[in-house]
Amino acid sequence: MNFPPAALEDWMRDYYFEAEIDIGSSGVEDYSLRQLRSLLGLSHEELDAIVFHDSQTLGDPALRQAIGARWAGGRDDRVIVTHGATEANFLVMNALLQRGDEVVVLDPLYQQLYSVAETIGCRLLRLPLQFEQGYRLDLAEASALIGPQTKMIVVNFPHNPTGASLTPEEQQELIRLASQVGAYLVWDAAFADLTYDQPPLPDPGLFYERAVTMGTLSKAYGLPGLRLGWCLAAPQVLERFIRLRDYLTLHLSPLVEFVAHKAIANGDLLLNQRQQQATHNLAIVERWVKERPAAVEWVRPTGGVCAFPRLPAVADVVAFCRQLAERERVLLVPGSCFGCPQHVRLGFGGATAELEEGLGRLAGALEAASASELGMDRALSGRPDLQPVGGERV
Ligand SMILES: Cc1ncc(COP(=O)(O)O)c(C=O)c1O
Repeated sequence: MNFPPAALEDWMRDYYFEAEIDIGSSGVEDYSLRQLRSLLGLSHEELDAIVFHDSQTLGDPALRQAIGARWAGGRDDRVIVTHGATEANFLVMNALLQRGDEVVVLDPLYQQLYSVAETIGCRLLRLPLQFEQGYRLDLAEASALIGPQTKMIVVNFPHNPTGASLTPEEQQELIRLASQVGAYLVWDAAFADLTYDQPPLPDPGLFYERAVTMGTLSKAYGLPGLRLGWCLAAPQVLERFIRLRDYLTLHLSPLVEFVAHKAIANGDLLLNQRQQQATHNLAIVERWVKERPAAVEWVRPTGGVCAFPRLPAVADVVAFCRQLAERERVLLVPGSCFGCPQHVRLGFGGATAELEEGLGRLAGALEAASASELGMDRALSGRPDLQPVGGERV
């Protein structure tokens, strides 16, 4: 298979490790092992007792039970433990899709959620989340797009990069649309536990057998480097994943599974602090945006820790983000990584002081960009043959 480059991952390889200030990533502040040990009460004796046996293909039974209890209504027979949601997504697409299948996907969407299907040779139908509509899913449009030919519907709520989500009623309607035609409803729940205006949505697998959910400790739980994710699906679907996994990763490390089990069994201890910080940070971003209406237009996120504002005064957002990274050492993600060239992904899940410093540097860069744009516009007025290049004005 010939995969296209993953634009977001390329951007992160260029700038994530060099940045002083990260206001581009999509997770909360990461935990250290010391913090984990103290929060979860992990003792050296317990860690020392781990033996590096092979683990089981579907995952350690105690860990599957913990995941099932927290996210799948107690159904541990619906759980496979994976190397992040990334492996889960790869297994789902490769086990369930074939060339020519019709797949309905949100647009914009985290690239892996459509690129794998596209590379397999599926026909993608895009369901837009539009800035002008407050990034709300248009269920009438979804209903028009979903039909007997639909093999799979792929969504992610709360949504990366916009922070949009569904109400419980909208979620039920989407489940109804999928079940009407028997399509798999692939529900990327990477940010499920981070919500601001309503409680987290329930797992769609509680209502629909052909729902397939991906989850992870990388986002809301501050453990991206642990590489621990999962997939919730019908046991016969998990069987199909096993056939693939035998050629891919076999199983996880018992060390990772041990730490993950403790983290999930005490999930609220990790989540609550980070959720509080994210809620506080969201209010800071909200004020910051309100103070500069000409430079930043946005839709306030209702979940996750990303916003996807538009920068109307910046002619070339990619060049702007590169300069911000190289001169100001601030990581911000250009919206082109999600096919939206006038936008940026702004992550607000990190430490509050880092966010404030990052917003300050970003404000300075926006002012400089707008001053130079004005200068450029003046210089170009009267020269209609010379227009700014590189970015689309919206
Ligand atoms: C929507 C979504 N799904 C999955 C992933 C991958 O998560 P993981 O680190 O668990 O592989 C990401 C990472 O950014 C994401 O945003």
